[in-house]
Amino acid sequence: MRGTFVIPAKPLYEGKAKSVYSSENPDELIVVFRNDMTAFNGVKHDQFTDKGRLNATASEFFMRMLETEGIPTHFVRMSAPDTMVVRRLEMIPLEVIVRNIAAGSMTKKYPVDEGTVLDRPVVTIDYKDDERGDPMINDDLILVFHILNAEELTKVKEMALKVNKVLRGFFDECGITLVDFKLEFGKSAGTIYLGDEISMDSMRLWDKVTGESLDKDVYRFDKGDVITAYRNVLKRIIPDAVV
Ligand code: C5P
Repeated sequence: MRGTFVIPAKPLYEGKAKSVYSSENPDELIVVFRNDMTAFNGVKHDQFTDKGRLNATASEFFMRMLETEGIPTHFVRMSAPDTMVVRRLEMIPLEVIVRNIAAGSMTKKYPVDEGTVLDRPVVTIDYKDDERGDPMINDDLILVFHILNAEELTKVKEMALKVNKVLRGFFDECGITLVDFKLEFGKSAGTIYLGDEISMDSMRLWDKVTGESLDKDVYRFDKGDVITAYRNVLKRIIPDAVV
């Protein structure tokens, strides 16, 4: 039981940190944010009490914010603190990453130092395929594989940059630098929606003053207590949230 829902015994899909279940409404799905935390394509794996709720709370907050900014998202409502009811989408197998500052895989793949502020936000896209290590993909490949048509690809990039503009400004006011983040999109009845999650698992966030990581890098690179970092973000973005 999750809020008003009796959760089916078997998920439709089990990701590394979320489980997706069918609901009584065929147009909606139920997403449970689990306490699992993984890194390096599942090589590192742990569980942290309350982690699912913290990420669900952040995701709800950002999806609502983006809706008010005109970005369609899959968010419908929360049915429990760690459980989100979402619009059923046909997911697009792409990870759309927006970077404001060089970090992570960008500094491994290219000769750019971590912390370099990029002249303008950069969108990079990975093909979502764990077995192949989520390889980077380009526009031509996306079109030739019929993952998206040209109009949809333009739309996805526009949406990603709009999300960046909204979130970057918001985080700045909270004393946090939005370094980079990953989005996933899906389609329903010809419309492209923002799906998946926007949480501390999917963003790189640095304290504006100290530069300390407040995101999954704390877990990836054993930089401290990841749940303390996640609570710190929530306290700053939603001052009245129960954290
Ligand atoms: O690893 P990389 O530097 O390419 O990640 C860029 C951003 O996308 C980071 O904020 C990371 O947390 C996020 N990401 C993600 N899921 C992935 C890959 C990256 O949330 N599978």
